[in-house]
Amino acid sequence: MMQSTEKLLERMTLEEKSTFVAGLNMWMTKGYDHHGIPPIHMYDGTNGIRKTSSDEEMGITTENMPATCYPTGSAIGSSWNVELLHEIGVALGVEGREMGVELLLGPGINMKRTPLGGRNFEYYSEDPVLSGELGAAFINGLQSQGVGASVKHFACNNQEYEKMVTSSEVDERTLREIYLAAFERIVKKSKPWTLMCSYNLLNGTYASENEHLLHDILRREWGYDGVVISDWTAVNDRIRGLKAGLDLEMPGPAAYNAKAIVEAVQNGSLEESTLNASVARLLELVRKTTTNTEAVQEQVSIDYHALARRAAAESIVLLKNDNQILPIQTEQVGSMAVIGRFAKQPRIQGAGSAEVTPTQIDIPWDEMQKIAGGAIEMTYAEGYPQDDRIDEQMIQESVALAAKADLAVLFVGQPAYAESEMHDLEGIDLPAHQVKLIQAVAAVQPRVIVLTSSGTALAMRPWVQHVPAVVHYWLTGQGSGSAIADILFGRVNPSGKLSETFPVKLSDNPSHMRIRGENGKLYYREGLFVGYRYYDRKELAPQFPFGHGLSYTTFSYSGLKAVQQVDGQVAVTFTIENTGTVHGQEVVQVYVHDEECKWVRPEKELKAFAKIALAPGEKKEVSFLLEERDFAYYNTKYNRWVAETGYFQILIGSSSRDIRLRERLNCDFGMEEVSFHKFSLLSDWISHPIARAILETCLAEMNEHVTDKVILNEDFIGFWGDFPTIKIFQMFGQTWLVDKSPDQLMEELIAQFDAQQQ
Ligand code: BGC
Repeated sequence: MMQSTEKLLERMTLEEKSTFVAGLNMWMTKGYDHHGIPPIHMYDGTNGIRKTSSDEEMGITTENMPATCYPTGSAIGSSWNVELLHEIGVALGVEGREMGVELLLGPGINMKRTPLGGRNFEYYSEDPVLSGELGAAFINGLQSQGVGASVKHFACNNQEYEKMVTSSEVDERTLREIYLAAFERIVKKSKPWTLMCSYNLLNGTYASENEHLLHDILRREWGYDGVVISDWTAVNDRIRGLKAGLDLEMPGPAAYNAKAIVEAVQNGSLEESTLNASVARLLELVRKTTTNTEAVQEQVSIDYHALARRAAAESIVLLKNDNQILPIQTEQVGSMAVIGRFAKQPRIQGAGSAEVTPTQIDIPWDEMQKIAGGAIEMTYAEGYPQDDRIDEQMIQESVALAAKADLAVLFVGQPAYAESEMHDLEGIDLPAHQVKLIQAVAAVQPRVIVLTSSGTALAMRPWVQHVPAVVHYWLTGQGSGSAIADILFGRVNPSGKLSETFPVKLSDNPSHMRIRGENGKLYYREGLFVGYRYYDRKELAPQFPFGHGLSYTTFSYSGLKAVQQVDGQVAVTFTIENTGTVHGQEVVQVYVHDEECKWVRPEKELKAFAKIALAPGEKKEVSFLLEERDFAYYNTKYNRWVAETGYFQILIGSSSRDIRLRERLNCDFGMEEVSFHKFSLLSDWISHPIARAILETCLAEMNEHVTDKVILNEDFIGFWGDFPTIKIFQMFGQTWLVDKSPDQLMEELIAQFDAQQQ
């Protein structure tokens, strides 16, 4: 049993405390036997455990201890299945305890600003509600087993290019609505034990010492009381970091910083209480890891590989399926050409710190043989070389096999070297040799099924129109081979939906003009318009929209009701029915459209979703409760979330571009609390009843002294509405304002308003 934090703080020396706030080595915190403080062991990663054989090693390019490799972030993000994420969290907690993991360095939830982000495969989505909900479920599962999470990378590390020296320049509204929103949801819904700050600077200050981010927002506004860990070597100025609330520097021991902390406390430039606050949070973390392990004694037995396989199947997205060519009917197909090296050497994950050494790998070719080898004659051609060469002979061999067969199945995708931590992708098109292969095969065989793999969006323009079916299987972990076979032959009905937009071409993406930082600054000029928010507003058709994914069955939606309750929440209900002939799961998506906001808002924003399983002919009523915050935007005039009273639409979609039901309703969120300043506009004054009354009284007095009188009718407001009210007095009140300046008059009006509003 550890002593109380207060006791330990009294007993630990300044030197001990200064050493405690950095790691012992690459993966551990420092333990103090004489104080009864054990060390903590932490390991990557985001889609499985990457535990090195020694705690002194980084282990990126070496094999690590075998562990279950689950679908990577973008894949599992496309499952839209909150229960599944919880289950994976639990499984990782159990496996983590077996492997001696107390903290798991994941999940990664950064937003996908550009499809070129080198670590996009680790992240769930381009949408904060989807990422936040999935992340929170995962963490709740993981932490229920006594293993802590480390949500990363906080914040705005959205690509790899010069990330350690680049400042993401992001306006406050965009920051809150897009880049921080998933972290906020996770902090509030799952209380992650730790959070990892990112390498980059945010608006000019390193995330690891950014007071606005780590203190004002994270701790003060969101009430986070867990531990903030640095990304590996992300610390710049350790004293500033402590002051901002960065508790643990990793890796350690960073003896130079322990020395600097002691000196800073001794010379008064760092309050000892600031150091104590970080030490206290770390002690609480150590306590949780030990206490919870004792609490979760029950050994749950989990078939990890079966879960990895099920998770893979839930993540795979059926993008296109003309004439129901899928699922493959074994009794109707005599022969099948399987083409592409990924069929035998699949890519199951991306590279870098998230790369897991899998316990086993299901090979698509083997799994297809197992299911249909007895009924269908399958032939194989490699299709393309490992490098980028276009090998005409390989293409011709594939074409010959495809022409002879009843059906061709093509395995293509981003090559392994393209997707890795430390560098961004160069493009989102398939390699030229694969494009050529698809086109050549499609020219001789109309029944072509293309299976694409990548951890980020793909552009498919040069070939997608020539093939009847496309299945995107992302990087789906060690169970992907069997999951693919299950889906191809209809043993599993696909239910994944895209967690990010697939544009027609890379240059359609809103970040395209500012992909790389210049001179240390990367401006997020597209602002709020990330992912579908941009394509919607720009009225630009993507190749496949956010939320898109087909099924082998069909669903009908009906009976939408959206009603605001007395407590202000909006209750949404509707019915969904499986109108096809096979069992299936549909991801229902609830978007909100604000009809009359004063500020620009995206056309629609995802606010809730659910994955519903239905037998053929089965119907279910689905309900959601939306909160005031679901209708709000971040107002930087008042620095808070504001939901404006007025008309909204609730949109129920099968994807962001396939809206099945729509209901308009007037929501009352009460009168907005406002404040005025010297240059507040006439339109601001008249839109608030109290302010308007004050202004009208004042104008009535002025009108008695001037010839050109101001009457606040429609015409006047229509013309002068965007004029600051002070300028109205300067324009029309010159002969009245003799003993009083316009500034003084405005001060009086504002004081009257403030007094009456209270
Ligand atoms: C990555 C983190 C990772 C850490 C430890 C860093 O390079 O950015 O995501 O957790 O290394 O491997």
